[in-house]
Amino acid sequence: APNHELVPHRGIKLIKGTHDPDDVDQIYDLEIRDSDVFVVTYPKSGTIWMQQILLLIEVKGDVTAISKLSSSSNAELMPWIEVTGSREAFITAPSPRMRVTHLQYQFMPRALSQKKGKVIYVARNPKDVLVSYFYFHKLANMLETPKDFDDFFEKFIRGDVFGCSWFKHIKSWYSHKDDMNMLFMTFEEMIQDLKSAVERISSFLGKDLSDEQLASVVKHSTFKNMKKIPQASYEHVPSHLFSHQMGRFMRKGTIGDWKNHFTVAQSERFDDLFHREMKDFPLSFTWD
Ligand code: PPS
Repeated sequence: APNHELVPHRGIKLIKGTHDPDDVDQIYDLEIRDSDVFVVTYPKSGTIWMQQILLLIEVKGDVTAISKLSSSSNAELMPWIEVTGSREAFITAPSPRMRVTHLQYQFMPRALSQKKGKVIYVARNPKDVLVSYFYFHKLANMLETPKDFDDFFEKFIRGDVFGCSWFKHIKSWYSHKDDMNMLFMTFEEMIQDLKSAVERISSFLGKDLSDEQLASVVKHSTFKNMKKIPQASYEHVPSHLFSHQMGRFMRKGTIGDWKNHFTVAQSERFDDLFHREMKDFPLSFTWD
């Protein structure tokens, strides 16, 4: 069997070889400390960007301190909680435990809904998510390479991808946001004003950084500068995991690339679906 097989599990799809269903089910019972921080995203919505920002805030903007903590990738310092082995390591890890996840709300520790720990949800306009995810399927060997863009468009709309549909994900989290200590952010606001975004994140985490330290966090998390840091931009991921000749994790980092990919008909279909799915959710996005 190919190692990019999607395995249905309680309403979501896991990636064979990357996730273990029993392990994923045990995340719900994890004990949570007040110092724990989870970055929650639908894939391709700003996960590795937030990893870099949070790690930089933790070391007060001293970028060299991160490479002293790990030389491989930011994932070593801030792993995905749903990846096999990660949950076990979390239990005994020293504070602050910072993790990222693409899981739906229903799978995450119930303690989060008792206002233990902190959650940062990053949302991105789903048309750009779709395009970014399309290219990531070519790069990542654990995901099946799409036949073409049209084929992937249909899969994305159906939610026939890792996890669930974009709509299910954001609705599951957003409808519980008041139960948690949650900061809700968008990829687009980070693009438009990274300094303000970093300030919001830092104060949400209760950190007291000087203007100089905050400026350094911003400087080392811009697209241009992050791309030059291999451990932040996942340039060193082994070739059995990423087909590096197919592209880069940090691909474009812009708003509105969907316009270069969607047909008018696809865009209209997507808009219809968006309005139908999101009508009860007071969320608006920047689309270009
Ligand atoms: S993943 O696989 O789910 O963890 O991917 P994720 O990190 O969520 O999303 C990857 C996209 O985020 C872009 N990115 C950035 N954009 C702007 N500035 C910075 N610093 C930055 N870091 C990552 C990355 O380029 C992917 O988007 P696309 O549109 O493909 O370029």
